[in-house]
Amino acid sequence: KPSSAASDVYKRQAIILAAGQGTRMKSQTSKVLHKVGNKYLLQHVIDASHNHVEQLNVIVGDNSQSVKAAVKDSKINWVLQEKQLGTGHAVQQAIPFIEDQSICLILYADVPLIESQTLEQLINKAHSTGFSLLSVVLEDPFGYGRIIRDSNGLIQSIVEQKDASKAELKIKEINTGIMAVKGSLLKKYLSELKPNNSQGEFYLTDIIEKAVKDNVSIASFKCENKSEVMGINDKKQLSQAERDYQLNLAQGFMSKGLTIMDQSRFDCRGNLNFGNDCIIDINVVFEGDNDLGNNVVISPNCIIKNAKIGDNTQILANSIIENSSIGSNSSIGPFARIRPDTHVGNHAKIGNFVEVKKSSILNNSKVSHLSYIGDSKIGNDVNVGAGVITCNYDGSNKHQTEIKDGAFIGSNSQIVAPVTIGKNATIGAGSTITQNAPDNKLTLSRNKQSTIEKWKRPNKK
Ligand code: UD1
Ligand code: CA
Repeated sequence: KPSSAASDVYKRQAIILAAGQGTRMKSQTSKVLHKVGNKYLLQHVIDASHNHVEQLNVIVGDNSQSVKAAVKDSKINWVLQEKQLGTGHAVQQAIPFIEDQSICLILYADVPLIESQTLEQLINKAHSTGFSLLSVVLEDPFGYGRIIRDSNGLIQSIVEQKDASKAELKIKEINTGIMAVKGSLLKKYLSELKPNNSQGEFYLTDIIEKAVKDNVSIASFKCENKSEVMGINDKKQLSQAERDYQLNLAQGFMSKGLTIMDQSRFDCRGNLNFGNDCIIDINVVFEGDNDLGNNVVISPNCIIKNAKIGDNTQILANSIIENSSIGSNSSIGPFARIRPDTHVGNHAKIGNFVEVKKSSILNNSKVSHLSYIGDSKIGNDVNVGAGVITCNYDGSNKHQTEIKDGAFIGSNSQIVAPVTIGKNATIGAGSTITQNAPDNKLTLSRNKQSTIEKWKRPNKK
């Protein structure tokens, strides 16, 4: 959606540079397909710009196959840059697709944390002057292009580290590379670029000097949040970006009322919704789409992936929940593993060292200790004793177990599926159940206990 009415005559386009090799990552994977918050770097940039533009021109190089396969978006126009001859050359490849009457946003796939509001401001400035640039002031500007201003503070040019004089190297305001330019101006100055510099590259940054000579005034604004414009070239910077991203997420969640015990040990790799008064203890990792009700407590060291967790439920330490839903007022763990397609009801308990897979365990039921429950339907008010195993696999196929409401399964029993345990049935401890057990009765399968009177322990030789 366009951000202001004045913009309506202009088409909004973006050019995202993603063709670089990324050799410093020392990886078989293309740099732009590395992830922050489990999302591709390129995808972050697409998401930040998506609502501002009608079309995204993504410049790819040798990595084109893997990048195209990984990132899908109907707004993308893939543009191949066969040889990487510099940032100006990269942008030139998109020229056939850029309209004169457009505001063109230039972005970098390895600068992933740029925020949508920042781009909005940059675009608005480009509407008034035709050309706007995002800068940042860095304590250590080494490696970046420096912003050269005249005595009135107006931008004159950008000088790259490798081409800068001693005096220019002292400048701390640097070029983030991110800019918004009217299509007609961009095309004009790009066509005039020459690789007359120490690297023999076509520098995109040279268009600034050309525009200034043409009396175009360059609007600029300084980005206050440095992590938004940080570039990722190596694994150290990738890790820093991940932490910055997580800290930013954590602070956003806290401002919406989430209690996070330690914001530096919080990880959300996806989307998190939560109600009131939820508490997240340390080292919890959220993945995918998670939904917490009110008063949910997650204790240390849990992995919560694509889960829905109801009000007042506690997930105790060292538990893993994946693609499952847990009702309200229930308790999971410590050390529980809830595998995909599990549904646990309300006021239920899954205790320590219990693994549950593709099963439902309804209201007020308890599986408190050391059990495996797989491919099972467990009703309401069922008590499953310690060490009970549902034997769901015969070596070739999986089979279903059904345990009806009110049943009590004695400890250390094996329930060999397919089998049904009746309503309010009781299974004696240590039984191996291979046939259906009737409602309301005690069923057991074990030898009668006996004592050998004359037996003696052997003597030590
Ligand atoms: C560039 C800027 C510099 C700025 C810095 C910010 C130029 C000349 N310099 O320098 O002023 O401070 O970014 O990070 O623009 N790329 C291509 N094709 C190419 C060359 C590069 O797609 O032919 C991509 C790279 O993959 C990378 C981005 O463009 O994502 C920037 O290129 P890079 O060579 O890293 O530019 P810098 O020297 O960092
Ligand atoms: Ca760079």
